[in-house]
Amino acid sequence: MTNINLDQTLVLIKPDALILSLTGYVLTQLSEFHTGLRIAGTKVVNVNRMLAEEHYAEHRGKVFYPSLLEYIMGKIHYPNVPSKRRVKAIVYQGPGAVEKIRGIAGPTNPHNARDQKPGCIRSLGTVIPLKNEKGEIIGERMDNLVHASATKEEAEREIKLWFRPNDIPPGIRVYATQQSDGHFYYKEDRIYTTYVAGSICVFAPGDIVWETDLQTLHAVQQNKPTPCSLHSVVAKYLINEKCEDD
Ligand code: CDP
Ligand code: MG
Repeated sequence: MTNINLDQTLVLIKPDALILSLTGYVLTQLSEFHTGLRIAGTKVVNVNRMLAEEHYAEHRGKVFYPSLLEYIMGKIHYPNVPSKRRVKAIVYQGPGAVEKIRGIAGPTNPHNARDQKPGCIRSLGTVIPLKNEKGEIIGERMDNLVHASATKEEAEREIKLWFRPNDIPPGIRVYATQQSDGHFYYKEDRIYTTYVAGSICVFAPGDIVWETDLQTLHAVQQNKPTPCSLHSVVAKYLINEKCEDD
């Protein structure tokens, strides 16, 4: 079932908010009473590298990118305790979901947030200087407590990246789904339709999957251009499969 007129957005409560015990504060700021939005799906995620890289793919190559991956994977805030590394991912639905939550989150840079919008969530964040091996400052990382999708298109990409269809109740699912028509196994950047040693089963016949994910795997098999990257399909099936402690 699809309900394409329902706005939705992805929120991540990042590791800096979790270590500061700000979850309750963030949820209150985003509550239905304040925003008119409702939660459609939620999960606790030990963020694997593939998921981190896909989520922040637009920032690949930027000076802060490697540090940003470490941040979202929880390695900055829990360097010695891999079991504490997590992010809380939430799908919110309702009119104007993207704009409302971006507004309450505030500007990306916590310094700007404090100047321009005191009281917004990100005004409680910090900016961390990044240094090279010589100790010279080469950039900065913004620890800004929450992620919020910036556009409707970004929300669709991100919700499908973090959530499987069955993580969201069927009656309120927005994006198109299909039943998988076969087995699809993943190993080392390749897709197989029969089991090979060391592979993981991504889809089994009859599984409800995002339509674009199924189209992507079919296209990969046929060596055709894919609507999404292979990693964006697979990453959600690796979530919480094993502790990422590299
Ligand atoms: O999160 P938002 O969409 O507001 O900003 P972005 O430009 O898409 O950047 C994604 C995330 O990268 C930010 O939320 C920051 O945590 C981080 N970032 C950073 O560390 N340093 C920058 N110069 C820009 C962004
Ligand atoms: Mg962004």
